[in-house]
Amino acid sequence: MKHYLKSIFAMAVAGVATAGMQAAPAVVELKPAADAPVIKKEIYGQFAEHLGRCIYGGLWVGEESGIPNTQGYRTDVLNALRELHVPVLRWPGGCFADEYHWMDGIGPREKRPLMVNSNWGGTVEDNSFGTNEFFNFCELLGCEPYLSGNVGSGTVEELAKWVEYITAENGPMAEMRKRNGREKPWKLKYLGVGNESWGCGGNFTADFYANVYRRYQTYCRDFDGNKLYKIASGANAGDYNWTEVLMRDAMHHFNGVSLHYYSVGDWSYKGPATGFSNDDYYNTLGLCLEMETLVQRHSDIMDRFDPEVTKGLMVDEWGTWWEVEPGTNPGHLFQQNTMRDAIVAALTLNIFHEHAARVHMANIAQIANVLQAMVLTQGPEMVLTPTYYVFKMYVPHQDARLVPLAVTTDTRFVEGRKAVPEISATCSEKDGVYTVSLTNTSLEQANKVNVDLAGLKLKFAGAQVLTAASVNDFNDFGQPEKVSLKEFKDARISKGNLVVDMPPMSVVTLTLR
Ligand code: AHR
Repeated sequence: MKHYLKSIFAMAVAGVATAGMQAAPAVVELKPAADAPVIKKEIYGQFAEHLGRCIYGGLWVGEESGIPNTQGYRTDVLNALRELHVPVLRWPGGCFADEYHWMDGIGPREKRPLMVNSNWGGTVEDNSFGTNEFFNFCELLGCEPYLSGNVGSGTVEELAKWVEYITAENGPMAEMRKRNGREKPWKLKYLGVGNESWGCGGNFTADFYANVYRRYQTYCRDFDGNKLYKIASGANAGDYNWTEVLMRDAMHHFNGVSLHYYSVGDWSYKGPATGFSNDDYYNTLGLCLEMETLVQRHSDIMDRFDPEVTKGLMVDEWGTWWEVEPGTNPGHLFQQNTMRDAIVAALTLNIFHEHAARVHMANIAQIANVLQAMVLTQGPEMVLTPTYYVFKMYVPHQDARLVPLAVTTDTRFVEGRKAVPEISATCSEKDGVYTVSLTNTSLEQANKVNVDLAGLKLKFAGAQVLTAASVNDFNDFGQPEKVSLKEFKDARISKGNLVVDMPPMSVVTLTLR
């Protein structure tokens, strides 16, 4: 399979220009190719779990709430998410999915049973947000639903009936749905059969799960014109054997296989979300760049079994994971989000672009109030995170054709981690509009970047920048716009090059026509 890896040449392998010194310009060479893959919009997928305040307080407050809402969904959050053109939303977990019994979450809300959310802080879940609430939310947001089915503690029959309840025109499950107020079936494309089946989803071995997967998916039927895209629960980071076994034993029964990777170095102490050192920052970037190795090596395995690339690698959980904010429930995974998180988002999305031929979906964890969130809420207040703004800047890349490129840049040596390029770049084209996104990872060094436009006759048509006074800056209740998008003017076209003067720790997206 053809990969569209950009080459990163180290001009100064063991270091970078010191503070204040002007480094040689980085060079980005565009190499347009008609057969380059389209960057599937699903790479910009989101993930919402019944965890902490992701659903309750983050997305859903109920119709009776004093917080402005649209049919029970927070209006501020809904509007903010609409700006991101969210293509797909994964739900209800995560680990929660393998303990979730969907029939507890339908019918009159006051009659729904309680359960203990034993994965996430032992919180009592009242099931007031269930199947109807999720599918209605996806309709309001205009995204594809992605269900994560219970394999760990649920039955084959339960999962089969869930698909029937959602998608069948007639029959007992359809009648139940109609009694619950939804006459027409919904469309369900993406169905995950288990989550982290190597861990919280059942602690299966790869061989055992491959057989369980084959069994469960057999009974998930295509009703009345609905067509399921089935996703097998995939590997934990570098567990290549898991992918090998699934491709060998179950590939003919799935459309995609997942991969989970968080940019965490030490699970026993993940470090704070704010107040970190410069070394912590570069260490995190080195960790996040591991995604490149993981995607490459899992793709290599998939290529052996599936050279025509008919199966997708679905990175359906990724992002940063810090210690929770002081004073919050450790099981609720509430963390702040700084310029560091924004740079992680940009570098990771760039990797997915390079591997767009194989990476057919990715879902950052998670959409609200949990891990590397898009939005944080507190009562009626909402803030947009720096990560939100990267997703917003990258909207034009959704469903655009990748423009392969090569980058020549300084790199920074990070002990025990991947070297960190000073400049990371990605480019795509759609309807004659070229979108170039550049990231300057340096905390102290402004960087000039020459983008060689490969003879394309393009005009500069505007740009936006995300940067901050300090990499530790974040948006908080009371100071919600400390890190936000600004118009960017330090770019011009000169002699066939787009010349960009990038401030330190910045993400810039430029439009060319
Ligand atoms: O996103 C938080 C948790 O991380 C998910 O529930 C689980 O799948 C993963 O381990």
